[in-house]
Parts: sequence; C-alpha cells; structure tokens
Amino acid sequence: MMHAPGASPDSAGLVVNEAPGSRAVLNRQVLLLGADSAGWRLRAELPAIGTRFGLLVSASAAEAGLLARLKSEALAGIEIVAEVVGVGAGAPLVGVRAIARELEGVEIDGLVALGGGSVIDTAKATTLALHSKADLAELVQSAPPPIPPDPPSIRVIAIPTTLSGAEATSNAGVTDERGAKRVIRGWNLAPRIVASDPAVLERSPAQLIANTAMMALAHCLESLYAPAANPLSIAAALYGAELMGRGLPAVTSDKSAGGVEAFSDVGAGGVMAGLAISNARSGLQHAVCHVLGSGRYGMSQAQAHAVMLPSVMRFNEPATLDAQRRLVLALGGSATIEPAAFIEGLRQTAGADAHLRAFAVRRSDLAEIAATSADEPGARANPREADGASIKRVLDAAW
Ligand SMILES: [Fe+2]
Repeated sequence: MMHAPGASPDSAGLVVNEAPGSRAVLNRQVLLLGADSAGWRLRAELPAIGTRFGLLVSASAAEAGLLARLKSEALAGIEIVAEVVGVGAGAPLVGVRAIARELEGVEIDGLVALGGGSVIDTAKATTLALHSKADLAELVQSAPPPIPPDPPSIRVIAIPTTLSGAEATSNAGVTDERGAKRVIRGWNLAPRIVASDPAVLERSPAQLIANTAMMALAHCLESLYAPAANPLSIAAALYGAELMGRGLPAVTSDKSAGGVEAFSDVGAGGVMAGLAISNARSGLQHAVCHVLGSGRYGMSQAQAHAVMLPSVMRFNEPATLDAQRRLVLALGGSATIEPAAFIEGLRQTAGADAHLRAFAVRRSDLAEIAATSADEPGARANPREADGASIKRVLDAAW
C-alpha cells in the first residue's frame, strides 16, 4: 500500500496502519548470532543441510585468514568439493554465470558464502542459475521480477563480513551487462543458515563496518514506511536500530573497545535490518543508491547509503517525520533533535563517508543520476513524490 503522493504530514505515520492488509515472510532460516556463530555452532547445523559443500569467499576474507579459520572450525571434517575465492563487486551477472559454469555438474548440498553483500548475493544468484532453466537475464529483466518457481536445491549458508544484511534477505542484487543494478526477488533465495560472528566482523576494516552500518540504518528507516511495511518489518527495524545504536560507537571509534559484545550487537542489528528491508521493499534512498552504487561512480552500495542518508531524510521529512523520530529514539537519540542531523552526527563519529565529491561523481553527472533514479521502483514508491528535479536537489545537498 502506497502513501498518496503529497500526503499531509499529519497523515504520515507508519504505513502499516493505513494498509488494509499486509504480508510478511518468515524465511525458513536459522539465525546464529553472537560468539562462535561461524565456528562450532555452525558446524553443528551443517549435517541438516547435507554432506557436500562448495565455498564462495571474498578475496579480503581469505587474506584476513578467515578462510583458513572457517575450514579448521565450522567446516572441520566436512567435504569441500568446490572453492571460489574472489567475487566481483556488485555481484555482476557475468561473474555469477562464470561461477555457475564452474559448479555445473558438481554435486553440492550447500554453498557457504563468506564475505560482504556482493559475495552473498552472488551465492544466491548462483544457486538460482544452477537450478533454473530460465536465463538469469530473463529473471532480472521482467518487471516485476518473477519469483523463482521452485526453491533452489542448493542451500546458501551466509557468513557476513559486513553489516549489509544480505545474509538475511530473500533477494539478490546483481549488476547487469549495462552496469545497472537489478534485483532478483523470491523468498526461497534467502540463505538457509545465517552465521553472524563477532570474530569475523572484527577482522573487517572499521570504515567498511561504518559504511555498512549506515546502510543498515537506511534499511531500518525505509522498512518503517516502504510500500510493504508490516508488523514484522517494523519490529525488526526498530530493534535492529537499537542494537546498532548500542554497538556502533564502540566498534568504529576504538575497535579494541568494541569487543565481542559490541560486534555481536552490530552484527545482529545488521541481520535485523536485512530481515526488515527484505519484508518491506524500499523507497527513494535505495533508488538513488542503486544508481550511485552501480559501479560507474567508484562507490559501493554501502558508501552510497552512507553519503545519501541524511539528505534523503531531509527530503522525506514532511512525509516520514514519525518514522524518522522512531528510528532516532531506537538509536538512543532524543525526540527534539532533527533526525537527519542526528544521523549526520552518528555518521561522523563512526567515520563513514559523507560526500559525493569524494568519489568519481562529477557535479555535472548529478542531473543524469537523478533522472535514472526517478525511474527506479523505490523512487516511485517513495512516500513523498520524487521526480528528477527534486532528486537532483537531494543529490546536490550530498555533494
Ligand atoms: Fe539495500
């Protein structure tokens, strides 16, 4: 259910109250959170998936020693029949097809994905490519994207190294041949086991954690008012924000002060944020970030979210002030502060990216970025009507 464009501020609450009905999907997922999630606790879950496993690991996770650790702990005694290290940023379809070709004919029960959103979404898309008769290009090019007819028989086991939330969502964001971000949706794409382990997150660079934390907050916020918001997405969003508010200062300012507890909090917060957005769809923030983070402008989705969030919040404030206030309160802020200013403060303390001009975005690109963003589904579903001209102003403010 969508807000009428230009809905008056006093009618703008959480969208769930306006919807005649809502649909929430509780994925058939095991969520392992906190210490040893990617260690012996994951090892204990694997027999339920099967006996033969493939591995998809980011180059940075392998370099950080996480692959070796995974093999000696969670995968001890497990048969690994395929191993791919290094995945393209933004989960390019060409990469997905190449991995699917590599795995074709190899019998595997589960694909363990260790990395950020690109790795995990590549794993989801790969299981679909191996399973589906349809070409992936068909699955992403029809609008709305069809739900895959049958659940892929290969289960994804996701071990996130960032707070992207991809481990919890039932969609895969991929990049097509033209460099456009496309989303494949279907509840049965959700990873079957999620293992968010503080000892894994701790190895990631502080700025990556900071930027993906801002992306997680964008997920929480948009989940409060996006078209399909529902009781589950709202509960997950608000508690996700609370966990993030608790852990974020400690994990970004002084990593050694963070410790297991703080990394457990932000890890669980990222998972909650992913569950929330997976159930709610999205608005203008995602529309703009899909375009900015497509790879053309030298920035990732997470960097785009970090840069754009306060600016999009200011634009959306007349239509979403209640939701913004609830987010800030959940994060531990006060009801009197301007919500966008509160998020700016948090972003600065965390050390996340704050300006478009720091990337390969020229000021003269903004009009085109705005026009492309206006065609994204998120822009059309935004609670405040957003056209090319108004999106251009939102981008200017983040310049
Ligand atoms: Fe997202």
